Amino acid sequence: MNNNTDQLEARRAARREVVEEAAKLLFDGKLVAFPTETVYGLGADATTDKAVAAIFEAKGRPRFNPLIMHVLDLEQARQHGVFNRLALKLAEAFMPGALTLVVPRRPESAISLLATAGLDTVALRAPAHPMARALLKAAGVPVAAPSANKSGRVSPTTGAHVAEQLGDDVALIIDAGRCRIGLESTIVGCIGDDPMLLRPGGISREDIERAIGRRLRQPEDTAKPAAPGQLASHYAPKAELRLDATDVRPGEALLAFGPKVPEHGGPMLNLSPAGELPEAAANLFAHLRALDEEGCASIAAMPIPEFGLGEAINDRLRRAAAPRE
Ligand code: TXA
Ligand code: MG
Repeated sequence: MNNNTDQLEARRAARREVVEEAAKLLFDGKLVAFPTETVYGLGADATTDKAVAAIFEAKGRPRFNPLIMHVLDLEQARQHGVFNRLALKLAEAFMPGALTLVVPRRPESAISLLATAGLDTVALRAPAHPMARALLKAAGVPVAAPSANKSGRVSPTTGAHVAEQLGDDVALIIDAGRCRIGLESTIVGCIGDDPMLLRPGGISREDIERAIGRRLRQPEDTAKPAAPGQLASHYAPKAELRLDATDVRPGEALLAFGPKVPEHGGPMLNLSPAGELPEAAANLFAHLRALDEEGCASIAAMPIPEFGLGEAINDRLRRAAAPRE
């Protein structure tokens, strides 16, 4: 065996060890932060009220805002939710992956009522990230996990982001570097015959509509959000955020997009110099955090096209710019 294979084997063994340790902690009712391909999650055993309560506590999250249950696969998902034909089609196309399905909750499901905020529906997601899958396999129970940030703040796309906001609240952070997609999962409601886009995210509306051969509806009643967590102000940096900026004002930091960037002497980060939306999505939260650390009173964000992943990027930017509660 050469040196490289030795190192590879050592890394594999270390990964196995951390996953086993994490599964043990979950079993003991502790919180574990883990990577997914979208953002890092703050996980707890979804079947234990006390563990789930600790998530709400650590995040400062309102109790009416239900969590996403993470499962290994469709088979495990179906133990907790009722999948109609449309939900099955979506699961077949995008599970595992960056899709969360909201379906009717099975009455016999062992998931904590606190985790679903007493609703008769449940949000289920099978992440594709190998470390998340290893953890779910070892845990053997559904893992309730919101994004691993304080409520209302920017979602974490690195282990270091988690440590900054929740380091004191978690028993363990499984650090696997940067998240590949960088935006939360797309949430689709499959309650009746009409699939509903509850939150744009890491899989574009166009890709989903193509897979099911029909349009996704929008929740009509915007005053009462269909995904209860979709409150106006969210993902908020400390700085003010100015959207659709085509110039930069004195004292502002610039969140740029594309090759044509206005002249600017101050702090600047480009989401994607080539103007590519997947790259911009992957950089969004990390760049927002980094610019925020520059201490400017305001961040000017250049316009992002409203198609593909742009829909989710603009959703997050609008919430980050919304008046704070
Ligand atoms: O990519 C993701 O989805 C990440 C990773 C960790 O999986 N998780 C995530 O969770 O973004 P969180 O808690 O930050 O957002 C979950 C969203 C909230 O807006 C919540 O209101 C909605 O899912 N949700 C959960 N259960 C629901 C339900 N039964 N009906 C409607 N919306 C629901
Ligand atoms: Mg979140």
